[in-house]
Amino acid sequence: MRILNFGSLNIDYVYRVDAFLKPGETKPAQSRVVFAGGKGLNQSLAMAKAGLPVFHAGKVGSEGDFLVETLRQGRVDTSLIARSEQPSGHTIIQVDDQGRNCILLFGGANQDIDESYVDHVLSSFGPGDYLVLQNEISLVPTIMKKAKMKGLSIVMNPSPYTKVLLSYPLEIVDIFILNEIEAEGFTGYSDPHKALNTLAQRFPVSQIVLTLGEKGAIWARDSERIEQQAYSAQVVDTTAAGDTFSGYFVAGLVEGYPVSKALDLASRAAAICVSRPGAAASIPWREEVH
Ligand code: RIB
Repeated sequence: MRILNFGSLNIDYVYRVDAFLKPGETKPAQSRVVFAGGKGLNQSLAMAKAGLPVFHAGKVGSEGDFLVETLRQGRVDTSLIARSEQPSGHTIIQVDDQGRNCILLFGGANQDIDESYVDHVLSSFGPGDYLVLQNEISLVPTIMKKAKMKGLSIVMNPSPYTKVLLSYPLEIVDIFILNEIEAEGFTGYSDPHKALNTLAQRFPVSQIVLTLGEKGAIWARDSERIEQQAYSAQVVDTTAAGDTFSGYFVAGLVEGYPVSKALDLASRAAAICVSRPGAAASIPWREEVH
């Protein structure tokens, strides 16, 4: 059993501000730091740091070598990552005094995934393997369908939410991991319980994990529910908390943990992540989480 994460790699330009910019406003940032990030890269790192053998597939531009190196140092197999003529994906992230963020995303090389590359990547995987996906690269529906035909299980973190997700073949997803904003996008309900119930009815054989930030998380499958409290932390920067949770939850499940233990592991890891600045840089190793 192997894990393939087909996902984004971004250069994160992180600006500290006292409060987020308003329309028309100009103001100085307190600091700027450049980090490795991207929901794909972060989730690969989280799974690998949790102890899983992870292959990352995705594309970077000429300035993206440090992103690949970050994955390599985190013990992720990077042999499937390809170069693009496009610049690497990047983000402009504001982090405010409460550690909250808002993220402007430029897709770049992440949007340069083509069908021949998808076929090349998937040729190394088969039944029993897992495919992990987010919503920051091109051709996600094609990757989903081809992977399912080859017998892979699909883990989908539909983040960031965009309306185009509604046209994806979501019925073939085995495990969804999503937050309140994404759940509301799919269902129209801002109430997390209503949103989760609606999703569980729509996808009765899929596992669904709804993350609720400081309010914890709820797992659902059909009419079953398991709740998880969040661990308290001194919040410095919430960037990549969801990615850390996703990666550690998948790692727990793949290792054969019961759902409640996988949720607990993921919550511990996410609490450590929010206590540190940056995305990839803030993801803890397994020893620390335990
Ligand atoms: O989830 C956090 C990530 O979202 C950041 O690293 C940024 O690159 C965006 O993709």
